[in-house]
Amino acid sequence: MRLPRPLAPGRLSPLRLSRQYSSGHTVKENDVLFLRQQGTNFPRWHLTAPLRPESRVRLAYGASVNASDLIGRNLLDVVPDSSGRDVVLHEPSMATYIINSARQATPIYPHDANTIVSLLDLNLPRPGEEDEDANAPPFEIFEAGTGMGSLTLHLARALHAANPPTTPALRNSLCTAHYQLHDFGLDLTPEDQAAFDSYRASRRAVLHTLDRNPKHSRAAHKLIRQFRRSLYFPTIDFHIGSIDEYLTERLTQSDGAPFLSHAILDLPSAHENAVPVIQALKPNGLLILFKPSISQIGDFQAWMKRTNQPVRFERVIELAVSTTADGVRDTGGGREWDVKTVIPRGAEADAQPVQVMRPKVGDRVVGGGFVAILRRYHAKASPEAEPVEEETTSQVTPEAKSEP
Ligand SMILES: C[S@@+](CC[C@H](N)C(=O)[O-])C[C@H]1O[C@@H](n2cnc3c(N)ncnc32)[C@H](O)[C@@H]1O
Repeated sequence: MRLPRPLAPGRLSPLRLSRQYSSGHTVKENDVLFLRQQGTNFPRWHLTAPLRPESRVRLAYGASVNASDLIGRNLLDVVPDSSGRDVVLHEPSMATYIINSARQATPIYPHDANTIVSLLDLNLPRPGEEDEDANAPPFEIFEAGTGMGSLTLHLARALHAANPPTTPALRNSLCTAHYQLHDFGLDLTPEDQAAFDSYRASRRAVLHTLDRNPKHSRAAHKLIRQFRRSLYFPTIDFHIGSIDEYLTERLTQSDGAPFLSHAILDLPSAHENAVPVIQALKPNGLLILFKPSISQIGDFQAWMKRTNQPVRFERVIELAVSTTADGVRDTGGGREWDVKTVIPRGAEADAQPVQVMRPKVGDRVVGGGFVAILRRYHAKASPEAEPVEEETTSQVTPEAKSEP
């Protein structure tokens, strides 16, 4: 097969050249950008609101840039701000978006949220990939509290592909609609509401997120709706109020049959709210607890044994803390290193560049905490009826360990 001959760059028009070297992602209305503004000593980063043509983005040094100058550009394009500084257009990652958004509640840090999602081991087929009963109930996960919505967003990303596609028009309506004045919800046109209701009824995976604090729920709703123009928003149902009320009503509707595939609790005194969660959890489903302190995990275990709950501890994991150097960009939980080639300060004019490779000094500790993973058993076969195990005090030698 003959391949087309590449054109010499000198023979391309500037427009075609810029297309060839562009990131290929054109910034659209309602996108959120992460702008890198040239600074005096170091760059300044700014997470924008969803871009609307008439709005202005305020930056550091009293400068600003018109949103209309950003819409239609490509990622990595450079535009001048009102003070003449260069501003580079970046797209925020999910983690960067969360870290740099306003918060009403302490979130599960993005790399810890990723760990929790991976512990759930979600492997859902896309619609149509498996023979299944069209009337089969969806795969449901329950999460409380919603808080900032960090874990919610990570969970929704993992469920997203299991659901049928929405339409660009519906996504556009979802991310631009105003909130209802006196209620929790979007003020959609009757046609958009009907399209949204019909889409919700077609979902194969649903994340239910509940918080008793309406302010937290509303802020999380907005955060998730604005991320990537409502990409993951339709997978989530937001609930405000009591865990007991919501789940008891659902259990009544299902005649007591459990319907949740997994549940996650990130709230103080989880055991005070866990009974309906465990009742609603299907056998073999996982219950994950996120706790800042190990003693809270111990408290839950003591309660679970005392009340003979049909769940069993599988693992307890300490999440590693990490540090960030600039506080605005995520390190994925890893330790950030400085790797650069520099001419040493004060060196002779003809000095050779040297490579610097050292861990960056973090100025903020992030993440950490404890995760307990429990599995739901059939009530009768609960291994919690087992006597409390006695800890053996004898040391296992390394040799003994390696024996078959
Ligand atoms: C630490 S935040 C959760 C953070 C969230 N997981 C995230 O990643 O952003 C705890 C939340 O639990 C909520 N909460 C506390 N007790 C609750 C309860 N009994 N029922 C429902 N929500 C509760 C609080 O209002 C708060 O928003």
